[in-house]
Amino acid sequence: MSEKRLAQSVPTPFELIPIIDSTNQYLLDKQESLESGSVCISEYQAKGRGRRGRQWVSPFGSNLYLSMYWRLEAGMAAAMGLSLVVGVAIVEALQELGIEGVKLKWPNDLYYRDKKLAGILVEMSGQAGGAANLVIGMGMNLNMSEQVTGIDQPWTSLSEVVDTPFSRNDLVVAFIKAWQAALEDYELRGLHGFVERWNQHDNFLGREVKLIMGQREIKGIVRGIDATGAVLLETERGIESYVGGEISLRKASD
Ligand code: ATP
Ligand code: BTN
Repeated sequence: MSEKRLAQSVPTPFELIPIIDSTNQYLLDKQESLESGSVCISEYQAKGRGRRGRQWVSPFGSNLYLSMYWRLEAGMAAAMGLSLVVGVAIVEALQELGIEGVKLKWPNDLYYRDKKLAGILVEMSGQAGGAANLVIGMGMNLNMSEQVTGIDQPWTSLSEVVDTPFSRNDLVVAFIKAWQAALEDYELRGLHGFVERWNQHDNFLGREVKLIMGQREIKGIVRGIDATGAVLLETERGIESYVGGEISLRKASD
């Protein structure tokens, strides 16, 4: 048996903590004792968070809150690509379970019918030598009550995507496997194998959007991502690429 197969047959260190502040924070705090690939999931987050300190609404028992610790040998510079890689892995894992129609919004969201289904948050817990210690977290709405408050954009749940019951355990297992495989591939070959796959699932490919960067807004048509993970926008000046954590992409009409 090859080394790779041996590595894959080792069970993933896994914790289910029913109530937590944030699964990302939990793994960030205990990174010293973790093996790469370790996972934490929870039923409720008191302080679930999104990018730039925004709140991730995390009611009890109705969603998935999943984080994985990953030691990225390629270092911090490569971390930008992770939300893209993990996004592609999630959409493909859903497809393998027979769940179609989930799309990607650059750089870190999953959409269904133009509504937000899930978000990915990559955080760094420090650097050891050249390697970066990272935590990748995903919140996916599974069957969230319409009564929730605090979400300032259209959102949806997986129960709207599928009309037959699905198993949360099957989803968790499929996501963990898909993330690990995608992260290993990314470590070996970078974004190479992901650009085409991202573009296939991009919710806004060929559509007019605006990129919001602080006070600045740029309108254009999405032409996918490039090999650096930047979003390509066709504007009146030609095709331009944009990259960076401070950019928000929205439908042009929003
Ligand atoms: P950006 O493109 O700037 O990242 P974003 O809206 O995706 O835009 P994030 O910081 O990535 O912003 O995600 C946080 C946002 O997600 C919150 O401001 C809120 O609007 C939304 N949100 C919070 N909880 C949920 C949830 N459970 N389901 C769907 N959306 C949520
Ligand atoms: C976003 O769209 O901004 C990303 C949201 C990420 C939410 C997940 S839920 C599991 C993990 N723990 C957190 O506190 N955040 C991420």
